[in-house]
This record gives sequence, C-alpha cells and structure tokens, in this order.
Amino acid sequence: MRTQVGIVGAGPAGLLLSQLLARGGIESIVVEIRSRAYCEARQRAGVLEAGSVQVLRAAGVSQRLDRLGLEHGGIYLQFAGERHHIDFRDLTGGRTVTVYAQTEVVKDLIAARLSAQQRIEFEVTDTEVADLDTTRPVLRYTSAGGKRTEVNCDAIAGCDGFHGICRPAIPASVRTVHECDYPYAWLGILADVPPSTDELIYCHHPRGFALHSMRTPQISRLYLQVAPDEDIGAWPDERIWDELRRRLALPGWELKEGAIMDKSITPMRSFVGAPMRYGRLFLAGDAAHIVPPTGAKGLNLALADVAVLARALTSLIRGGRADLADRYSGACLNRVWRATHFSWWMTTMLHATPGAGPMEAQLQLAQLRYTTGSRAAATTLAENYVGYPPLKLNPDTP
Ligand code: FAD
Ligand code: DHB
Repeated sequence: MRTQVGIVGAGPAGLLLSQLLARGGIESIVVEIRSRAYCEARQRAGVLEAGSVQVLRAAGVSQRLDRLGLEHGGIYLQFAGERHHIDFRDLTGGRTVTVYAQTEVVKDLIAARLSAQQRIEFEVTDTEVADLDTTRPVLRYTSAGGKRTEVNCDAIAGCDGFHGICRPAIPASVRTVHECDYPYAWLGILADVPPSTDELIYCHHPRGFALHSMRTPQISRLYLQVAPDEDIGAWPDERIWDELRRRLALPGWELKEGAIMDKSITPMRSFVGAPMRYGRLFLAGDAAHIVPPTGAKGLNLALADVAVLARALTSLIRGGRADLADRYSGACLNRVWRATHFSWWMTTMLHATPGAGPMEAQLQLAQLRYTTGSRAAATTLAENYVGYPPLKLNPDTP
C-alpha cells in the first residue's frame, strides 16, 4: 500500500495532523492500537490555549468547541487560607483560555476524519516503522482482522505518546534525553455535579495540592496530590470528597459533591527527547516530550507541534522544499522548553514534597505571595498559562 504520510497514534496530535494535511491536499493513514471508544473516553486534559483554539478552527473542527467551550479569563491561586484571582485578560492584553475536554477534541477530530472518508485503523497490533533514513520510509501493522499491511510513505509522523514505538526507533547514538520524575501523582475524578467555582482553583495546602477544574456547567473535574505508588482502591468516594473539602476549604465557600463517574491516578514527569526528527520520521506531542500537568500544557504543546509539522510536511511533500522540515525540531523545542520550565515551576511551587519539612513550605508561600502581589510576577504566570510564545498561524496555509 502507498500513502504520503503514515501517522502512528490517534490521540490529539495524530488526528489533528491528518486533518491539517488533508486540508493541504496531502493523503495520510492513521493507525491506533486502542479502540475508537477507548480513545474517545480517555479522561485527560481540559484547558486549551487561544492558539490551540485557533488551530482547531483553521482545521475546520471547531463547531462544537465554539458552541460548548467555556472561555476563562483567569485562574485562582489558593494558599494559607486565601484565594487570589490572576486576571489573564488584564495582565496579557485580553488573552484567555478555553475549557473544553480532550475527549471532545478527539471525538470532533475522529468524526471529521471519518466523514471525509480518510483511513483510521483502530485496534492494530505490532506497529513498526523502518527505512527512516531513506525517502521511502515504511509503516507496518497488523489490522484488527489479522491482516499484516506494509505502507510505503514519504514521511512518518510518530504521534504515539510517551510509551509508543516511534521515539525508540531513533538510534540511541543521535538521541538525547532530559528527564525527571516527581515524588507525587494526581488522583483525578470526573463528578456529576456543577462546578463550585467560576474559574479553576489551584490550591497549595500542607496536606498536598488540590485542583478544582470543570468540563461543562454540569460536570466537575477535580484532582488531589497523592503518593506516586498510591493504590486507587484505598480511595473510596467519601475519602476523596473529604480530602478535597479539607484542602479547598475557605470560609463562606462550599464544595458541591456528586456521583464520581471516573477515577484514576497519573504519575508526573518532565521529559524532553531531542531531536524531534530523524530522517523522514517526525515526532510530535507526548511521543517527544512530557510535562507534569500543573499548568495545563501537554495537550497544547501537542497541538502546537502539529501546526508546525503540517506546514513542514506539506512544503516537503508538495513543494519539494526541505527547509521547514529541517527547522521543525528546533522550532518546536523552543516552545517545549519554555512550557517545561513553566510546568516545573507551577508544580514545585504548589505541591508538598514528602519529607521536605517547613523550609520548602515557607519558600513556596513566599513565591505564591509574590506571584499574587506583584503585577510583574502575576504577568509571568498569566502569559505562560495563556501560551508563550503566542502561536502564529496563517489559517489559509496549514
Ligand atoms: P496521546 O494522547 O497519548 O496519543 C497517543 C496515541 O498513540 C494513543 O491513542 C495511543 O493509544 C497510541 N499508540 C501508542 N502506541 C502505539 C502504537 N505502537 N501503535 C499505534 N498507536 C499507538 N494537557 C493540557 O494541555 N492541558 C491539561 O489540562 C492537561 N491535563 C492532563 C491531565 C491528565 C490527568 C493527564 C494524564 C494529562 C493531561 N494533559 C494535559 C496532557 C495531555 O493529555 C497530553 O499531553 C496529550 O494527550 C498528548 O497528545 P498526543 O496525541 O501527543 O498523545
Ligand atoms: C485540567 C488539567 C490540568 O492539568 C490543569 O492544569 C488544569 C485543568 C483539567 O483536566 O481540567
């Protein structure tokens, strides 16, 4: 079989890439190990930068996002029994973020690919990529029905997440890796209850971090810092609500509770692999880099990579020009390192390191007071949270 771009992974990165390429007249195939239902239900991110919303609009998949997305002009930082508002509109010249679940982004993209009769193969096994240092790289997989297929491509996009097969296909001799694990994880819940807040609350507490987010005016999303080896079985619903109530408590404010529809624990790490390109293999999203979730950057980085990659591949394959492809890795890593620093800064300012003692807490509180008290410091948080550098997009050229 033959296609122009072979895409491994039907997460937000792989699906958006396929959509943008099609709008530029480039044919692709997406292969995914999980089922469509699994991809559409996997609970993950919820906050889109304005640049991400623009990319999704340019890709023609924003009808539901424009109707259902909740525009937020700031966040709350809570610590030492006080809740402070960081006003993004005021601090960044009117910029905002949009609360819209990753599950919905994925549903919108899958629907768009299938209605355009583009190929997505779910539940494949034994995905392989080869001949990456030639101009005819090869993608191989076994379909759900058991048929082994070999696809000859002009380029392969590794959009297969942190545990995928594409990054390890780059020879170790040309790869560098920077990584750190954090000594905590997030227990996340999806709850059938209207949010108790108009904007997200990031909360520092001696018992550990808590985050109140949301999905819709009827559905809340909340997170608790827990130990990395925490057993989810040790967290019955009543214990989760009790801990959320304690950490988020504020005089005169009440946390509304409801049925818990989903519960999971996510480890936290920072990881940057470079370069993001080897020959005709291009990595995008979590396949190349991971940030801890405090700061809501992972999905936004994946979409930003793909906006750059779609243009580079279109220029390479349709125009025979390699310059954008050659600049792809460097251009993305600049944004990736900024977001890696911001996510690390938010994470270490807001979480309680086990065994760290009172010195860490005092330093964190000093930084939180500075961030909420100084306009310069608040602006640093705001401009990173809404997306830095602002994504430049020409909606007419993918
Ligand atoms: P993925 O979504 O991981 O997609 C990769 C796909 O590749 C998967 O579907 C996988 O099944 C498939 N795959 C893997 N191996 C193979 C193979 N061998 N063959 C074929 N397919 C394969 N980010 C934000 O921006 N904002 C947030 O608010 C936020 N909150 C988060 C909260 C949580 C609890 C978590 C876990 C993450 C959060 N993130 C957030 C991060 C965000 O979800 C990820 O960065 C995002 O999913 C990356 O998209 P991706 O397409 O690169 O990778
Ligand atoms: C959500 C996740 C995050 O990591 C974050 O910083 C804000 C919101 C969410 O899932 O809603």
